Amino acid sequence: MITDDRIRAMHAEMTEWRRDLHAHPELGFEEHRTSDFVARKLEEFGLEVHRGLAGTGVVGVLQAGRGGNQAIGLRADMDALPIEEANQVAYRSTVPGKMHACGHDGHTTMLLGAAKYLAETRNFSGTAYFIFQPAEETKGGGREMVRDGLFERFPMSAVYGMHNWPGVPVGTVAVHDGPVMASMDTFEIQVRGLGSHAAMPHMGRDPIVAAANLVSTIQTVASRLVPATDAVVVSITQFHAGDAWNVIPETALIRGTVRTLSAAIRDQVEPALRRMCEGLATAYGIAMDFSYHPGYPVTVNTAEETAFAREVAATVVGRENVRGDLAPSMGAEDFAFMLQERPGCYIWLGNGPADGGRVLHSPNYDFNDEILPIGVAYWAALVERALPAG
Ligand code: NI
Repeated sequence: MITDDRIRAMHAEMTEWRRDLHAHPELGFEEHRTSDFVARKLEEFGLEVHRGLAGTGVVGVLQAGRGGNQAIGLRADMDALPIEEANQVAYRSTVPGKMHACGHDGHTTMLLGAAKYLAETRNFSGTAYFIFQPAEETKGGGREMVRDGLFERFPMSAVYGMHNWPGVPVGTVAVHDGPVMASMDTFEIQVRGLGSHAAMPHMGRDPIVAAANLVSTIQTVASRLVPATDAVVVSITQFHAGDAWNVIPETALIRGTVRTLSAAIRDQVEPALRRMCEGLATAYGIAMDFSYHPGYPVTVNTAEETAFAREVAATVVGRENVRGDLAPSMGAEDFAFMLQERPGCYIWLGNGPADGGRVLHSPNYDFNDEILPIGVAYWAALVERALPAG
């Protein structure tokens, strides 16, 4: 499918890089080896290299043609997950309890491949920034790079991202108009009652009954508060209380997460949860201490850049293999912070079958090395078309 001989010729070398990174996974903000690997390769390819953004982040700068005025950014994430790898491949994780279970080893490799290709061919005019960010998984490395002055130090008119997608065939790209990934927030509710003998509940204030009622009431956020046509997920993921058969405890602890596909809906959920806590606290005569922690915003693709990304993808995989009919994911992505600052588009690159547990964040997942050249061809075409040589 990839007709460019130079990209095809890089396939074996890129597979080696990817498997080396896979064997040496590092968690968010600890990507020291990975960051060194990336920086050294970029220097080898002849790019100007900036290290230390958000700690372990790296930006490579490549200018070609008439130089600097026009610029775009391409972004990859580098971190792994705290999962024990189940795969028995030769290049399996050498670090107990850590693995590249989301394919960021592949993302890093594809962006390195694109840097190498574009540094050799230089068939564009302007500046391409290669952004390697730390800590995509929950710690917001993308947000930290923005705070560290990513877009001031490296002025660019648009920024692009991609993620491999299990269950989407190899050679297929999915492009979403507007929201592509959900917002992700977390909350915690400390229910404080009054402990008592289990046989004499009237002597105390039972936090378990109140907390159980709260869990039920929270289900009405999705079913009664938000229009049925808008997406929202509120999941209670932890409920801790008590440790005896015959004691009503003093406290119960509830934790959960909120996902939405629009900022307007996201803004409604926190006050609704707070109202429910206050109301039930009054009703049961106990305290409910509510705290809400904003995580990642909704990842929203902008119209012009999305149309452009779709055209570019069509040149790489063929128009019939560019899908626009997939629903957004309720998972989250910290590329959202970059898209809040600059227009751009985040695409899904088909990783092949998802059977046998080969899904993101699974101990059985593995990035599919077959798609490395496709990702490189997309990145290269994006730069060559966004910054056409005169
Ligand atoms: Ni990921």
